[in-house]
Amino acid sequence: MNKFRSITVTLRWALLVAAGLVLTACGGDSGDDSGPEALRLPVSINEVMASLINHSADPIWMAAWRNPQSDQDWRELEHLALQLQLGGALLSLPGTGPLDDEWTSSERWKDHANQLSAAAAGAVAAARSRDLQLISRSGDAIVEVCEDCHIDFKPDLPTMNIYGELSPLPSDPDR
Ligand code: HEC
Repeated sequence: MNKFRSITVTLRWALLVAAGLVLTACGGDSGDDSGPEALRLPVSINEVMASLINHSADPIWMAAWRNPQSDQDWRELEHLALQLQLGGALLSLPGTGPLDDEWTSSERWKDHANQLSAAAAGAVAAARSRDLQLISRSGDAIVEVCEDCHIDFKPDLPTMNIYGELSPLPSDPDR
């Protein structure tokens, strides 16, 4: 009886382990397929640039001469800096642009993207501590990262006909 029991127990374990291995193997496989490789932004990197990166960065370096006054001004800067920090992280994923895969698989590209996030994190800290000198230094650091990456990667002509500013839409509020 005892013996029989221990055999079934052993058998059960063996089955569990086997099932576990199969699951791990499947999981490993599908993990590779649907892992980082398969993550893709629904828009092009060019659109990320224009809509998120450029949009959030502008007011940060303008803060140096615009001098945020109110608590609300500083909180707005903090949110923008966080958006820029996230934007830097998003740049490690390809989107729908024709050169996105090429760019995001380059180590140099990843370095630039990480530097952008790091510089933006500095601006987040500056905004949180309401430090005007620090936010203007962060603004300078951010612009430097933009320029470095553009020198390395930006084609002479925009790949998707997007220039610095997006054209206003009829639906835009009138201001
Ligand atoms: C990791 C590299 C990288 C970083 C960092 C980067 N850019 Fe870009 N940016 C590009 C590339 C590449 C393009 C061209 C995209 C295209 O044409 O498809 C571009 C395009 C743009 C565009 C679109 C319009 C144009 O002039 O072609 C703007 C605006 C822009 N970047 C602003 C910025 C700003 C502002 C920063 C910093 C806050 C920044 N970028 C940081 C790589 C980068």
